[in-house]
Amino acid sequence: MNSIIKLEILEKTFKKKDFSILNDFKLEVEPGERLSIIGESGVGKTSLLNIIGLLDTQYQGCYKLFDSSVKDLSRNKLAKWRNQKIGFVLQESALINSLTIEDNIKLPLMYANRKKDITIQDRFKRIVNKIGIEPILKKKPLDCSGGQRARAVFARAVIMNPQIILSDEPTASLDLENREKIINLLFDMNKEFNTTVITVTHDLDLANRHERIITLKRNE
Ligand SMILES: Nc1ncnc2c1ncn2[C@@H]1O[C@H](COP(=O)(O)OP(=O)(O)O)[C@@H](O)[C@H]1O
Ligand SMILES: [Mg+2]
Repeated sequence: MNSIIKLEILEKTFKKKDFSILNDFKLEVEPGERLSIIGESGVGKTSLLNIIGLLDTQYQGCYKLFDSSVKDLSRNKLAKWRNQKIGFVLQESALINSLTIEDNIKLPLMYANRKKDITIQDRFKRIVNKIGIEPILKKKPLDCSGGQRARAVFARAVIMNPQIILSDEPTASLDLENREKIINLLFDMNKEFNTTVITVTHDLDLANRHERIITLKRNE
């Protein structure tokens, strides 16, 4: 099968170029794969997700996503793909505090001009129901618990039915019951829509529920 992600990083450096991460790192991912990424803190897991998710294009290397070379994509196209093809559950994904949870979750629809899209409205209902956040839809983020906010962030990441879902420690702030709801939604999407799932986690049980685990290591 054709890989949707073909990534070869020579190195990633930051402004102070005195150290680098992800040296000679290669990754290919097929459509519908469930991949988890583990490794000790500071090894570069979040940086790698930022690269895969097109949030960071500053690195030495070559990245083909959906058969297009990322280097050649316009800013517009990058933004569009981030909105429509990639769902990002960041470690500290901020919700907008002045908007209700419902409006936060529907934000990607606004950007894509698809607020009235009935299919997506249906998806919205299903997702919200599945992860049990109806009671907080009209609330503002600061009136919700950390676990409720984490579930809202997740709902926002999957509302556009992205082809790839990238999650950075999605279960870190959740109790067991909500952890299970999020994991089920993630894997249901994988089954139903063949969504590619890439999850960074310290939760070894969650990692083991993926088909493939890669361990990032520090440079020798
Ligand atoms: N914007 C940045 N500027 C400088 N160093 C950074 C920046 N972002 C991350 N780093 C460094 O890169 C390394 C990898 O970070 P990160 O990808 O967040 O690791 P992980 O998610 O595995 O904990 C760490 O040493 C971190 O301090
Ligand atoms: Mg991290």
